[in-house]
Amino acid sequence: MTRIVGISGSLRRGSYNSALLRAAAASMPGGAALVVGSMAGIPLYDGDDEAANGVPPPVAALKDAIATADGLLLATPEYNNSVPGVFKNAIDWLSRPPADAARVFAGKRVALVGAKVAEALRAYLAGFVAWIEDASGAERKTGPAGP
Ligand SMILES: Cc1cc2nc3c(=O)[nH]c(=O)nc-3n(C[C@H](O)[C@H](O)[C@H](O)COP(=O)(O)O)c2cc1C
Repeated sequence: MTRIVGISGSLRRGSYNSALLRAAAASMPGGAALVVGSMAGIPLYDGDDEAANGVPPPVAALKDAIATADGLLLATPEYNNSVPGVFKNAIDWLSRPPADAARVFAGKRVALVGAKVAEALRAYLAGFVAWIEDASGAERKTGPAGP
């Protein structure tokens, strides 16, 4: 069974990007499943908090879900030519601690989609994938971006 974890970059109840992930989950072919993870409850990154308590439980749960998956599907809106702060914050937590990055991300296929795909998000994905490569030796496979 191929298992993909989806993360929406929007917390909004009516989020188009969350709806996109739910639609993808409902359309997976046989032998594959998309499990939609959640950023809900992830606090703002604070190095003091991390030093005292480690990664918070919602972050640990998301990291474990990604670690046991084959790939990661990020669906995010564009906010001011970048990704939403809450989404970047979640990614920042997921990258902690750096020594755990290989366990979580090594060998993962990562794709970024959006209800509206914008050039700025393409640049963000390139940066994120480069980080995964550096942190965990993951393999980069780029494909054509949608309209
Ligand atoms: C703070 C903020 C900044 C935004 N910046 C952009 C932008 O730069 N480009 C764009 O096309 N849409 C922008 N939008 C519109 C959102 O991308 C749009 O509302 C999107 O549907 C939100 O995603 P969601 O439906 O998954 O919550 C912005 C919205 C907000 C709230």
